[in-house]
Amino acid sequence: LSHIFNDMKLGFIGIGKIASAIVEGLSTSEAKGIEIFLSPRNEETSVYLAGKYSLVRRLASNQEVLDSSDIVVIALRPAVVVDELKTLAFQPRHTVVSLVPQLKYADLSAVVQPAGAICRAIPLPTVMEHNCPIPLFRAPESVVSLFGFIGQPLRVAGEGQLHAIWTLTGLITPFYELLGELSSWTAGHGVEEGVANTYIADLFQSLSYMAQRAEQINFDELASHAATPNGMNEQAGKEIREKGAHAVWKEAAERLLERFR
Ligand SMILES: NC(=O)c1ccc[n+]([C@@H]2O[C@H](COP(=O)([O-])OP(=O)(O)OC[C@H]3O[C@@H](n4cnc5c(N)ncnc54)[C@H](OP(=O)(O)O)[C@@H]3O)[C@@H](O)[C@H]2O)c1
Repeated sequence: LSHIFNDMKLGFIGIGKIASAIVEGLSTSEAKGIEIFLSPRNEETSVYLAGKYSLVRRLASNQEVLDSSDIVVIALRPAVVVDELKTLAFQPRHTVVSLVPQLKYADLSAVVQPAGAICRAIPLPTVMEHNCPIPLFRAPESVVSLFGFIGQPLRVAGEGQLHAIWTLTGLITPFYELLGELSSWTAGHGVEEGVANTYIADLFQSLSYMAQRAEQINFDELASHAATPNGMNEQAGKEIREKGAHAVWKEAAERLLERFR
């Protein structure tokens, strides 16, 4: 029975890439008893989602979304979010979930008063596959269980910690680029491109899966376990480390983190 919500009313302000991934994820999940209300913008996406899923309705204004919802997900871009929230009337029954990276808890609270609960979350588009870690800050139980249908909720104790974790989501592009580079290299040695792509996607997935399954994840141990003396992993590990490739990633992360200061 844990997948049955007793008439949960969920609203979205801003129906762009991330909100539509959440709506798709929830609509195709095991969750029952949810009604979803969408703001009118983006028109194309909200019209599409409302047509596709019977539990989704597109409303005429952002205020109507608030008036119909108990949990309200804020998925606006940083540049417009504060001005837009200031025009809306929140109620004590509202639980506000902000997905906006640079809108700090205190600034968010100031513009959604008198909402009863306020939290921040970091879903990614992989929620569409119901497979995505979802860091949450100050989330009430209702939000944790909701996100549990589209990913793996992970409570984060402090806002500074949330920002450090958020920084990691800026490394998706270089990660996929690394996989792409390795795939081209493999294809350059005569391996069919499709085979190279599949092998690389599956190899890194299986290595992550192994780490996920460990009782206590220890990346150093996993790395040294693979590094047989005089073996290939020991050789490449040393060369890549000594050339500073890992330091480059950490420096890039450090500069991303500055955006939160
Ligand atoms: N994409 C991700 O993976 C991701 C992950 C975590 C957090 N976030 C954060 O979530 C927020 C949204 O990101 P996104 O990638 O979904 O951006 P996006 O695709 O640009 O979506 C933003 C949406 O907000 C709409 N909008 C603009 N002004 C509005 C208003 N006054 N009222 C209602 N809707 C309005 C836009 O509609 P129009 O097209 O009509 O302007 C657009 O559909 C950002 O703060 C982002 O940093 C994104």
